[in-house]
Amino acid sequence: MGDEMHAIIKRIAAREILDSRGNPTIEVEVTAKGKAAGFGRAAAPSGASKGKHEVVAFSEGGVGASVKAVKKLVTAKLLGVAVDDQEKVDSLLHEADGTSNFSKIGGNAAVAVSMAVAKAAASAHGMPLFKYLGGERATRLPYPLGNVLGGGAHAGKMAPDIQEFIAMPVGAKKFVDAVFANTRVHKRVRALIEARDKTFTGGKGDEGAWAPNLDNLTALEVVSKACENIRDEVGFEVRPALDIAASSLYDDKKRAYIYGREGKSRDTGEQIDFVVGLVDKYKLFYVEDPLQEEDFDGFAELTKKIGRRCLICGDDLFVTNVARIQKGIKAGAANAVLIKPNQIGTLTDTLKAVQLAKKHGRVPVISHRSGETVDETIAHLAVGWGCPIIKTGAVGGERIAKLNELIRIEEELGKNAKMGDLTWK
Ligand code: PGA
Ligand code: ZN
Repeated sequence: MGDEMHAIIKRIAAREILDSRGNPTIEVEVTAKGKAAGFGRAAAPSGASKGKHEVVAFSEGGVGASVKAVKKLVTAKLLGVAVDDQEKVDSLLHEADGTSNFSKIGGNAAVAVSMAVAKAAASAHGMPLFKYLGGERATRLPYPLGNVLGGGAHAGKMAPDIQEFIAMPVGAKKFVDAVFANTRVHKRVRALIEARDKTFTGGKGDEGAWAPNLDNLTALEVVSKACENIRDEVGFEVRPALDIAASSLYDDKKRAYIYGREGKSRDTGEQIDFVVGLVDKYKLFYVEDPLQEEDFDGFAELTKKIGRRCLICGDDLFVTNVARIQKGIKAGAANAVLIKPNQIGTLTDTLKAVQLAKKHGRVPVISHRSGETVDETIAHLAVGWGCPIIKTGAVGGERIAKLNELIRIEEELGKNAKMGDLTWK
């Protein structure tokens, strides 16, 4: 876009708002005026099991300091710029910050500005964001990975060590059927937990997944059983998946993965064997971060072993960073790439990560964070950029904000709507 300067950025406002954990985060509003007028509002999420190589979330001094930085450093640069020149806006964000990791203004401030600008531009063009980003080709809905049971950094100490046990409705023909399959799995998981643990109080972790007092294998049994039950009820395939978030388990000094809940420790070889065993026994469709964030070789070995029958996705490994994704492509590490805009700070950088992944047959998986707001931007990114999978929870207001937006998009696309392409190299 950007060929016609029909609206320029006139106003940028930033404020501190709540996220789903009750922590402060940043929200930004952008107003554009000219031949057309536009308005966009976006908020940044935040992680609990952040990758070491992510950009810095907020300025030194926290969210308030980032809000001030938007006012002091960003606004002056962006006023008067064509609202639909996203690349220029994003390069000016880098310039305003002046560091390599957004430590001055905060990556969360950058991403909120970047997304609000895109939304204002779409609004000035009189289009929904997904169409503004993807044009007529933007007709494919993503398959939703629904987190239904969890532990790790998202829940208490008695919950499983593995961070997320996920449902993946791979056989769904429509997005709306896919998300309702996930919520059915979520409900069934509760019933199956209660059958095993009479003391279960219905506790949930940060993303609305049940957080029971179960060991990892029992939890996986439960989720796998629930997926099978619901598959039989809805008549299409629903497969289990995991986010192991292995960096959270890894002890650098011991060079081992510590499963505290089970009193077990696994070295890299044992971890790889463990994951291969789980993939084969439970027919896992997808495993995220099976190894710690520096272990490109381990990822490559695992991908070689099971990458034909399972998606191996790098989150903390890649942190939506083109240089790290490139390194992964060279090494054959992973066949899917998690895409979190606030790990890298701008939409332009995020899009480059998506394009690089796709060019090499890696599946881009657009994702929420554990701390979220009702911002629905990632739903539009999934359709606009053609990401065949979205990971954004199964229940809870800040999760359904994205899922319900995708239901609306599917309805708007009508008979042109298709599900994403789940093939990979
Ligand atoms: P987060 O991580 O808590 O950093 O958002 C979620 C994930 O590991 O995918
Ligand atoms: Zn993850």
